[in-house]
Order: sequence, then structure tokens, then C-alpha cells
Amino acid sequence: MKTVYLETFGCQMNELDSELVRGHLESIGYGFTTEPGDAQILLFNTCSVREHAESKAYSRLGIVGKRKKAGEDLVLGVLGCMAERDGVDMLRRYPQVDLLCGPGELDKLPMLIDNVAKTAVLPGDQPAEDGRVALAGNTSRRSASLSATKDDLETLDLARAFDPDRATSAARSAYVRITRGCNKFCTYCVVPYTRGAEVHRPPDSIVEECRRLAAAGVLEVTLLGQTVNHYRYHHGIAVTIDGRESPQIGPGLKAFRNEPIDDAGITTFAGLLARIHDEVPEIARIRFLTSYPRDFGDDVLEVMASRPRICRYLHVPAQSGSNRILKLMNRGYTVEEYLEFTDRVLRHLPDASIAGDIIVGFPTETDEDFEATKDLLQRVPFKNNFIFKYSPRPGTTAIDRFEDDVPESVKKLRNNELLALQAEIGAAVHADWVGREVDVLVERKTNRRPPNAAPRSSADARVSLGAGITTTPRGDGALPEPVQVAGRTQGDLITVFDVVDADTADAMIGRITRVKVDGSGPLLLQGSLVETGSFAS
Ligand code: SAH
Ligand code: SF4
Ligand code: F3S
Repeated sequence: MKTVYLETFGCQMNELDSELVRGHLESIGYGFTTEPGDAQILLFNTCSVREHAESKAYSRLGIVGKRKKAGEDLVLGVLGCMAERDGVDMLRRYPQVDLLCGPGELDKLPMLIDNVAKTAVLPGDQPAEDGRVALAGNTSRRSASLSATKDDLETLDLARAFDPDRATSAARSAYVRITRGCNKFCTYCVVPYTRGAEVHRPPDSIVEECRRLAAAGVLEVTLLGQTVNHYRYHHGIAVTIDGRESPQIGPGLKAFRNEPIDDAGITTFAGLLARIHDEVPEIARIRFLTSYPRDFGDDVLEVMASRPRICRYLHVPAQSGSNRILKLMNRGYTVEEYLEFTDRVLRHLPDASIAGDIIVGFPTETDEDFEATKDLLQRVPFKNNFIFKYSPRPGTTAIDRFEDDVPESVKKLRNNELLALQAEIGAAVHADWVGREVDVLVERKTNRRPPNAAPRSSADARVSLGAGITTTPRGDGALPEPVQVAGRTQGDLITVFDVVDADTADAMIGRITRVKVDGSGPLLLQGSLVETGSFAS
């Protein structure tokens, strides 16, 4: 059986898709490698959101193209949003690409690979000249077969591999999709075209997935949706004789056992959060991404406030602080509404961390618009903001409607100015935590090697390593080498602290532990262990 190399670009949706693809291929016998040179099948799960994301993938295609030209027998596949956006055009322009598979077709990937291997074409696929295959288009709005796609994809999510062996370090944190696609059509954005229409997964499937992840050792789940707070599942929809859809009421609903279904037979986002929290107590942290600043009701904030394991963290991109630009972006809210929302969040959840995204250099953005964005940043305690330079994307409304008229040099200046401003705001937000204790889910060792905390000569002394932790040097007189680890608080604040040695660090990864915050920077907290040897979980 051939060996696969799979590389992922883009957002958390893509990371999750890659995990599912990998599990699916492994279950039918494919092996995986992290070395492209050792693989015969090379798959790139791509992103189209900005031009830069696409060029990274194109450079990979170039490298594989050279290997093929040199005579290596390789299968090259492009998965994800670029496959969907470019369609068969890519096959024409990149003869080295053997297969394309859009995000709505990933369940069929094994068949596509098989197909390339046989250089045959299945009926119904779109053949390129020479047996290459493309399955794109089913999530895009070009296709009418959305419902079929939804069911097939649901199967892929449901078939997720729950491998307890992998549930040690990184795997203690997992993504769970709750909504596919997006219906917002912000004018700059390709996602509604590459991921298709908004479709919500049944709450029972989601809760069951969380339960199985917990059983495999997962401590933290992050629920994924492009506008995650729009989650809304209609139970038992029945089509009436005149073709209208209405919720099935009466005994039918009893089958959907849980209370948070309202009278109309709907599970809301608040109801879903409550169900996961209450029905899967083994999950220590429940997060969700990405929130849309509109349609975020108090019901969600109340559920968050009353349920301690739902993280007080919101990623809720503002995109701009200028009402004129927000309108051109088709975001559907004003700055005042955005601020009303963040105020409401902080009233319900005073400890909440708020993060966001900003686009600079959207067409026609003036200095005045930009100043308005700076004002917005100063009015919300953002722990961080991802700042992007506007990138015109083929297929979007903005590229057709507006000239990309803000010069690159201006975009760059605005980008740098906002990064500097955000660093100040981030520093103040992080400084607020100094002196408090936080629970940190430890993720990794950092590259930093803290200095040894005691002179090497004191071979028989107990050595203090700070924060009341002491250690006894080994028999050979060698002192343990302290190691720095990094993790995140419930509010998603990156926290670093030192531990006695590498073995202790390894033992801590994937656990939640208490840390006293004694320093901070624009992007992180520095702390020290409150206790060692006993972990919060
Ligand atoms: N659904 C999320 C965002 C998904 S895309 C939301 O609405 O908030 C992630 C981020 O990429 C966006 O928040 C936006 O800031 C940025 N982005 C999307 N399209 C872009 C483009 N054409 N140019 C620059 N940045 C873009
Ligand atoms: Fe793109 Fe807007 Fe949808 Fe976010 S909400 S994915 S920015 S269209
Ligand atoms: Fe990129 Fe597609 Fe995600 S365009 S950001 S990988 S949804």
C-alpha cells in the first residue's frame, strides 16, 4: 500500500477535515508520513481565503511537479477550498495535479485516489483529458445536490476515528464541527462559495461525538462553524401536503430526548452548549469558533455564565471600525452594535477574553475609516486581533464591484500601525491577570531553556526552582535542566512557565494545571506552578 503525505493550509475547518481524511484513509490501510520525500501520494488541503494562502500551496505543487518530471511515480491531489474555487481550471493549468477534491467531497477521496491509480474514470465524474479526476462543485452553489452532499459528509464526520493512543498530548484537544458552510456573503469572502450553504449537524450526533472524544481522553473540544452562534437545528421537520415545512410536533418530538428543544422543535446554539456541558462532564473545556457579532443572544451568554466548563472566550471578528466600510463589506452590523455586543458580553462574563480579526485596506478605505478602526480597537479589551491586508478574491462580489484601490504600501502601513496598537492593548489585557491564579491546559515545550535555578556545586542540597518547588539533584550530582512549557488558560491566554525537567514537562502535556501569573507581555502570561505532582485533571 502506498504512503501518504498530507499537508494542511487554512483554518480549523481544514485541520479537522484533514484529520477526518487521514482517519478514513488509515482505516482502509494507507500509511502516513511527515516526510514528503517518503510519500507516493501527496495531498494538499488548501485554503483560498487570501492570495497568500493560495501561493503557498502553488509553491508546493511546483516542487511535486519537479519530482514527477524527474520520473517519480507520484499521485498529487489538491483538496479543500482551492480545489473548489479553481475547479477543473487548475487541472488545465497544473498538469502535475492528478486529482481535485472540494471540501464537500472528501468522503469520496479514497475512490478518487484509487481511480487515479487505475487511470480510469468513474461514470458521473468530470474527467480531465488523461484520466485525472475532479470532484468539486457539490458544496458550491453551482450544484443542486446539496442534500445528498450533506448526508455523505455527515457520514465522514460520524466515522471519525477515536484513537485513545493518539489522545495523549495534542489529541487532548479536538475540533467538532457543528455547522458547515456560510450564508453571510461578506463581499470580500470566498467561504460561502467554497464551503457552500449553511447546514447544521444534528445535536445528537454532536453530543455523541463529544462523548466519544471524551472516552478517548479528550479534555477540550472546540465547536466549529463559520458563524457558530447561528447554530439552529430543526427537529423532525415534516413536509406538509402543500409542500410547506413544519416542525413535527406530538409524540415524534419525544424521540429527541432533551429539554433544550423549544416548543417549535428547535435546538438553539445555547441549547446545544448546555447539552454538551451537562451531558459530557468529562470534557473540561468547551470552546467555539467563530462568533458572528450579530444574532448573539443573551441566552448564549446566560448558558456560558451558568456553566463553568464553557470557556469564557469569544473570537468575534469586527473586520472594520468604520460603518461605511462595514456596509460595503455587507457585514450587517454597525460599530455601535458591535460595541453593544462586547459590552453585553463583559457584563455577563466579566472575565471573558475577546479576540477578533480586522481587514485593512478594503477598497475605498480612507484615513478616516482607518482612524475609526483604531478607535474601535481602543474601546474593546481585545486580547488579540488578527490583522489582514485586503486580498481581492476571484468570484467574490467585492472584486467585481470595487477596485482594489488602496495601495499595497498603505495597506502595509495600516497593518503595522494596527499591530503596534494591538500589542499595547494586548499588553494591558494580559497585565490585568498578574497576581491571579489560572488553570492552564499544557500543550508543548517551548524552545526556551530557562537558566538553572541553583549553582551546580551544591550537589547535596535541595535545589529551589522557584514558586516553592524544590528538587533533589540526581545521584551523579547532575542538576535537572529546567524546561519551559506553554499552554492556554480557559480564556485562551497563552501562558508559559518553567518546570524542573523535560520528563516532568512531558508528563504535564495534555493536563490542566494551576499556575500563578507573575508576569505578562502583549501576547502571553508568564507564571509559576502553584503545586507540582498533583494535576487539576
Ligand atoms: N467566518 C469568520 C471568518 C472566516 S475567514 C467570520 O466571519 O468572522 C477568516 C478571516 O479572514 C476573516 O475574519 C477575515 O478577517 C479574513 N479574510 C477573509 N477574506 C479576506 C480577504 N479577501 N482579504 C483579507 N482578509 C480576508
Ligand atoms: Fe466569510 Fe463572512 Fe461567512 Fe465569515 S461570515 S465566512 S467572513 S462570508
Ligand atoms: Fe480557507 Fe476554506 Fe477555511 S478558504 S479559511 S480553508 S473555509
